[in-house]
Formats: sequence, structure tokens, C-alpha cells
Amino acid sequence: MTQNQHPKRYTVTAALPYTNGPVHIGHLAGVYIPADIYVRYLRAKKQDVIYICGSDEHGVPITIRAQKEGVTPQQIVDKYHAIIKQSFADFGISFDNYSRTSAPIHHQTASDFFKKMYDAGQFIEESAFQLYDEKAGQFLADRFVIGTCPKCGNESSYGDQCEKCGTSHNATDLINPKSAITGNTPSLKETKHWYLPLDQYQDWLKEWILEGHKNDWKSNVLGQVKSWLDDGLKPRAVTRDLDWGIPVPVAGADGKVLYVWFDAPIGYISSTKEWAAREGKDWKPYWQSPDTKLLHFIGKDNIVFHCIIFPAMLKAEGSFIVPENVPANEFLNLESNKISTSKNWAVWLHEYLLDFPGKQDVLRYVLTANAPETKDNDFTWKDFQARNNNELVAILGNFVNRVMVLTHKYYHGVVPVSSRYFTELDQIQTFATQIGTSIEHYKFREALQELMNLARLGNGFLQENEPWKKVGEQPEEVQNIMFAAIQITAALAHLAEPFLPFMSAKLKKMLLISDTPWDEVTVLEGHYLIAAGHQLGASELLFDKIEDEAIQKQLDKLEATKMQNVLDQKVVEPQKELITYEQFVAMDIRIGTIVEAEKVAKANKLLKLTVAVGIDTRTIVSGIAEHFTPEEIIGQQVQVLVNLAPRNLRGIDSHGMILMTESKDGKLKFVAPQGEDIPDGATVR
Ligand code: 2FM
Ligand code: ZN
Repeated sequence: MTQNQHPKRYTVTAALPYTNGPVHIGHLAGVYIPADIYVRYLRAKKQDVIYICGSDEHGVPITIRAQKEGVTPQQIVDKYHAIIKQSFADFGISFDNYSRTSAPIHHQTASDFFKKMYDAGQFIEESAFQLYDEKAGQFLADRFVIGTCPKCGNESSYGDQCEKCGTSHNATDLINPKSAITGNTPSLKETKHWYLPLDQYQDWLKEWILEGHKNDWKSNVLGQVKSWLDDGLKPRAVTRDLDWGIPVPVAGADGKVLYVWFDAPIGYISSTKEWAAREGKDWKPYWQSPDTKLLHFIGKDNIVFHCIIFPAMLKAEGSFIVPENVPANEFLNLESNKISTSKNWAVWLHEYLLDFPGKQDVLRYVLTANAPETKDNDFTWKDFQARNNNELVAILGNFVNRVMVLTHKYYHGVVPVSSRYFTELDQIQTFATQIGTSIEHYKFREALQELMNLARLGNGFLQENEPWKKVGEQPEEVQNIMFAAIQITAALAHLAEPFLPFMSAKLKKMLLISDTPWDEVTVLEGHYLIAAGHQLGASELLFDKIEDEAIQKQLDKLEATKMQNVLDQKVVEPQKELITYEQFVAMDIRIGTIVEAEKVAKANKLLKLTVAVGIDTRTIVSGIAEHFTPEEIIGQQVQVLVNLAPRNLRGIDSHGMILMTESKDGKLKFVAPQGEDIPDGATVR
């Protein structure tokens, strides 16, 4: 199979996010930013491209979230669809259309798709035993069931997919399955479903992907596809017994809906239809014409659906093209831990904007520079700060600022006339080509690196030519230097657009220039990006330094999340066995004051305390040395069980016990009398 070398148009899709929570940095880094860079570049290349997305509003995660929040699934999807859509818009993710799978056009498109396949006899109709929760009165599909992954042994695998090893399976494959609704062990109950016979597409998939695309698809994608095909594809149910989703459009399917992974990718098509209707275009060429290049940008957990199941559906339906590439990314971690919506371990986009208003491009930059293109990567706040301060501010911002300030200072912002051509300017075209080639090969980190190298070139050029030293004696040479530096600045404004669209727009406004097609971002002798005599606008800073306090605030936030998660997992100790009143009053608890404290040699945990308890002043050995220094507790009032039989600890006789409790984060605390003046020896009852 040959590659579509010169496509007439591009259909670029980005995975439809589930509307069971807001979007975070992992979403941006893995899917939406790379796709956005790609389409912005194509638009600058004057290509016919559409960038399609929307909310994935069916599926079990949404029902589970609704149950947790005590609202309807519709309320959940309405809430998160709005938040997600806004976040994408805020970060400049330039979709041509952002739809949702609850839209009527999608229900219609997905139903028609199923019906066409059904009528053509493309499904196997079969009754089988499936997991059923008697208590909840429902079948347990997908994420409604948790159990041990048959492949890797992960004990909390979902019914449809194991998040640990990425394997996709049937709920009945799980070992020791438990209902996620009631915790009950499910029983088996017979139910009828429709299956896509994936085994029939095995040979075609192998030839199309493993042979036809062995040189142009990413190795992580090819690896997963190969492993699936090596295992041998099996028929897969595309319907579910659920009440949230698109009803199965055939007779005898009451209470059944389309499997979310059957309807969601069709969402790309319905979103395209919505776009076409709004723009007065024909959607069909974008999905049915062989001169269209179809690309799916996704995260690695979506590979099987976009490389095997959806293509098999498209092929079976018969009127669609299949993707030319599926440039899937690996995962982004946050401060060394897996990003998790349920554990709130994430940087949420809407929260980021509250803490760093106007700094969308900084996040876009860091997530691109650190994108998990070939392996999982880590986002750290320290790296975020360093990349902002040492790269955006110190390299790009610094160069542009010097050029703007000097041009205003020397020439009142009017581009000077030049009589000399610097060969450095030849490199602008090379940079434009290199950046473009990297983008075309989905190497966005490399492309961004090249862009920064152009800024470095600009800085090096100024440093070498030092216009500030020549301004008195060589005014003409300074004009030449500044003219060239202004050309580099303009090139940066254009070439940065796919990566840093906000900064690019701001810089174009500062330079008072309009968009230039990518292929025309070239400087040759006699061909310039900004002409002499052009008046520049006012200069503003493009980036500013991020201080330690702002970073510490984010780290503290994550620390608090960690603590909350520990707490959420902590079980309150169950009540002990009952005691009698007599047993209770037999305990003699008094108020005392610690008058001396010292470490016990060779015992990390023990402090030797001298405590005045009213009756006498006695020695008590207490296991609190890891929580307090001796100095800080002298003078502390405490409660003491004074009639505890003496015990010998490390050679010291201990005459009683100090009462302690534990704080939320596991630190020991004294149970001290509060406020009032209570004398040593007072009893506690
Ligand atoms: O993994 C996810 O978030 C899915 N909602 C992606 C769906 S992509 C497509 F097929 F719609
Ligand atoms: Zn597994």
C-alpha cells in the first residue's frame, strides 16, 4: 500500500475525551497539542485541513460518575462538556468543530452505521453468559466490573481494559470479578449481543498496517498492533446491556445500547457532518475520498480501537477511507506518578489558568518540549519553571525584546534601511523547512527545538555584531544589523505560530505584520519579511519570570492531594470489645507536666521523660522520639495513665504512659488540656 504523498485534503481527528471529568495536562501533551501543531502548520502551508473533535458522552465512566455525584448522566455530560470545551478554547486548541456524542446528528450517524452493517450481515448475533450483579439488577459491562487481569495479574483491572498492561479484554476474562457498583461477586446470566467478527479482518489488518505502514507508523503503535495480531483477533461484542448510550437500532434489542467504543469513533464522522452543515461544505470527501489523508491523534490506551476495531468497522461499512497514520503518544506522568482523575493527581487546565493567567503558551511550550512521543515522560513543576525562565524568557523573549527596544531607541520603531545582506538570513528558509519536516514526521519536540535554535541564532547574531557598541561610530552598520535582526524576529513570529499561537499573535501585533504562508517565510537578498520604513508597534514583554513561590504553591497543592489520598484510603480502626464501668474507673489518668526529656541511647523511637504528675515526679519512657525533639516538649502538659504497672524499657523503669493521638497525616500529638489552668495531678474521668 502506498502512502498518500500529495493528499488533496487532510482530516485530522483528536480522541474524543470522556466527559466524566475536566481535562488535564496529560490530555494536552498526548493528543491535543500535537494535533494542534500539526493542523496549524498545515493551515500555514495553505492545505485543506479540518481538525475534528468532540465529547465522548456515553460509556460506563459517565454513569459511574453520575452515580457518585447523585445526578443523572445527562447532567454530568452537560457539566463536563462545557468545562472541557472551554479549556480547549482557552488553550488555543483550534478545532474546526467540537461536537458531542449526545448530539442528535451523532445518534443518527451511529445508528445508520450499525444498521448498514447489520443489514449487510456483518455481525454475529449470539447469546452468551455475561456478568450480572443481582443486587444492582444489571449486567456488568466494561468499567462496572473490576478484577484480576488475566494477562498481567493487576488486581484492579477493568472489565474492558487493564490500565496497567494496556490489554483489552472481555469482562468474563477477569479473574475474581467484583461489581464496581455493589462490590458483590457477579453471577452469570444469559443475554443476546452483536459481535464484530474481528478475526475476519486479521489478514487485511496485517497487510495494511504491518506490511503497508511498517516504515511510516510509530514503533509503539506497530508494536501494539503486532501483539494483538499475534494473539489472534476474536469476535468482539459491539452492544451492551446498559441504559445510557445509543439504542441498538434493530428489533428485539430493548434495553441494549451500542458499545461506547462502537459509537465514539463514529463521532469523528458526525462532528465532520456538523462542521460541513455549518460551513456549507460537503463532508463526504473528508471521509470517503482516497485523496484525503485521515489521521487520528490519540494516547496509547486508544491504539487498539483506532488501529484495529474502528478500521475494521470502516472497512466493513464499505464507504469510508481508513487512516493513513495513527500517531499515538505514550503517557505523561506528573511528578513521577501516573496522572489520575479519580485520585485528583493532575494539573487541571481550568485550575492552571487561575494560577497562571495568560500563560497558556508557557504550558504549551513545556508540554511540547517534554511530550511523551516515544516513551512515558514526567512533568515536574521545577522543569516547568526552568523551561520558562531559561528558555522562553532568556532565549526567545530576550532576543525579541532586545530587537524591539533597540529599534525603538535608535529609530523610533521604524525599520532602518540596510545596505548589507547577512548570510545568517539564508538560514530562515532552512529552519522553516526543518521545522516543517519534523512536524510532518510527528516529531514535535524536535520541531520546537529547531524553533528555539532560530531564536538562539538571533541572540548569537546580536552578540557577535554588538550594535550597542557600534551605534556611535558605525551608524550604517548598526542599521544593517538591526534590519537583519528584525527579519529574524518576524520569522520567529510566523514559525512559532503552530506551537505558541498566543505569543505569535502578540508578536505580530508588536511588529504590525500579518500572517505569511509557511512557504514564504524566507529571506533572500531583495526578499524580506519586513521592509525598510515599516513602522513597528509598541514593545511588550513576551514572557516573564516565574518565581519560586508560584512553583511552591503548586507543589504544596500536590502534597495536599497526596495527603488527602492517604486519608481516603485510611480505615478508621474498628471499635474494641466492650469493657465494664469498673474497668474504666480502674484507670487512673492524671494531668502532668514534662519537666525533663532526653533521648534514650541506641533507641531511635524512645524519649526518657521526667513528668510531674501531682502525686510525684516520675520517669516515663515514651515512644515519641521520631515526632518531637526533647527541647520542644519540656513544659508540655499531658495526660498520663499513672497506675500502669511499671515496665522496663532499655534498662529504664517506666512508671506510666503518656496519652497520645494521631493527626491526619500520621503525626503523633499530645492529648493536652486546653486553655484553662489545670493543675498537675488533676484526674481525667
Ligand atoms: O480514552 C478516551 O478518553 C476515549 N473517550 C477516547 C475516544 S476516542 C474516539 F474514538 F472517539
Ligand atoms: Zn494487565
